[in-house]
Amino acid sequence: MKDYCGSLDSMTTKRIMTNHMGVKVEDTRICVVMVGLPARGKSLIAQKVVRYLGWLSIPAKNFNVGTYRRADTPAPSADFFDTSNKEGEKMRQAAARAAVADMVKWFNEGTGTVAVLDATNSTKARRRWVKEWCDEHNIETLFVESKCDNDEIIMANILEVKTTSPDYIGQDPETAAKDFRNRIRNYERVYQTIDEDEKDLTYVKLIDVGSQVIINNIQDYLQSRVVYYLMNLHIRPRSIWLSRHGESQYNLDGKIGGDSQLSERGELYASRLPELVANSVGDDRPLTIWTSTLKRTIATARHLASAKTHYNKLEWKALDEIESGVCDGLTYAEIAEQYPEDFQARDDDKYNYRYRGGESYRDVVIRLEPIIMELERSENIIIVTHQAVLRCIYAYYMNVPQEQSPWMEVPLHTLIKLTPRAYATEETRVPAMIPAVSTFRTKGSTAKHQ
Ligand code: SIN
Repeated sequence: MKDYCGSLDSMTTKRIMTNHMGVKVEDTRICVVMVGLPARGKSLIAQKVVRYLGWLSIPAKNFNVGTYRRADTPAPSADFFDTSNKEGEKMRQAAARAAVADMVKWFNEGTGTVAVLDATNSTKARRRWVKEWCDEHNIETLFVESKCDNDEIIMANILEVKTTSPDYIGQDPETAAKDFRNRIRNYERVYQTIDEDEKDLTYVKLIDVGSQVIINNIQDYLQSRVVYYLMNLHIRPRSIWLSRHGESQYNLDGKIGGDSQLSERGELYASRLPELVANSVGDDRPLTIWTSTLKRTIATARHLASAKTHYNKLEWKALDEIESGVCDGLTYAEIAEQYPEDFQARDDDKYNYRYRGGESYRDVVIRLEPIIMELERSENIIIVTHQAVLRCIYAYYMNVPQEQSPWMEVPLHTLIKLTPRAYATEETRVPAMIPAVSTFRTKGSTAKHQ
């Protein structure tokens, strides 16, 4: 069944549909064209957009021109990027053509919705060339310029690039940084920011990573959704901590759902959590605590909230556990006995299976979108929530495929710290060393505890 999903008023020209497979934008093909000098966070933004859309089941793919260029020129020096270097120029154009051709092929295969063309696209002529190519193939273009003159941000990016870029593998970090600065200088000589002459383009200019945003000529819902996501991004250093609630009475009984209190061991975890968090945070930065509206998460976070006066606390309905409908309060053995077809259907496709009168993982992801948006805007947050919800949030940060995320093991009494970095999210897990039952269920099992 399809239902009309609404729109962002005046910006919208197309019908947006949702169905059981999530968000689908009929007949839309967008190329997000990155624009900007090296070390302006373009690749980070490109990867985040692809990850975010993929998490929402919108088929998205990154086409990085540097990757195509590396096939022929794996580790070029800065001279390669000097525009007076005709051979270098020719090879760079060939790489751009190969990336765009592959992107068009991907769209023509029929499953793609958003492609991200990750390259400097630093001149008006190059942008016009990309637009004409896309127009010809019925692909909308959304130019995203990351413009940044803030030395601190640029230096942090140079540091990240010299240590993580495939162009500098195995090279001395100082030599790499010097070469990279020269590469930037070569680009600066020809760089043209998007301006009045390009008023006909659809674009967003992100100045100093979100301090100022200029938006021009947004055409439809999906474009505005990508722009809204981009507007919420920041790159200030921060971490996100995730914890399930302490062991609950229902966990002990092997029952799902409900709104039970903590067990004795769950209470112990709640009382240890402030120390666990303090050790992991390591300094006195402000922290915001998010819980669901259910008793077990509120009880787990209550000592944390009173531990420090500068810790704020918020309860979110969107963080409540997956709604298990008619199965609420049952054990897996009871579900298998009373609803055998449902039990099997869930094992067959756990991500899409929707409990009778309840939710699927896919539904949970959709209701978590505002949480992700708020997380992107925020700094240090600890989320105390439930198994299924935590799996979905974790999947967003760690890029876990949909068929795997509902089967991930997320033990009780364990604090997970996620720190987003330019090319990946770093993870550490701190077990509280307080025993708890395992609520992890393998496919087919009806055991109360594993
Ligand atoms: C690269 O070759 O690394 C990127 C080419 C470009 O986008 O200018």
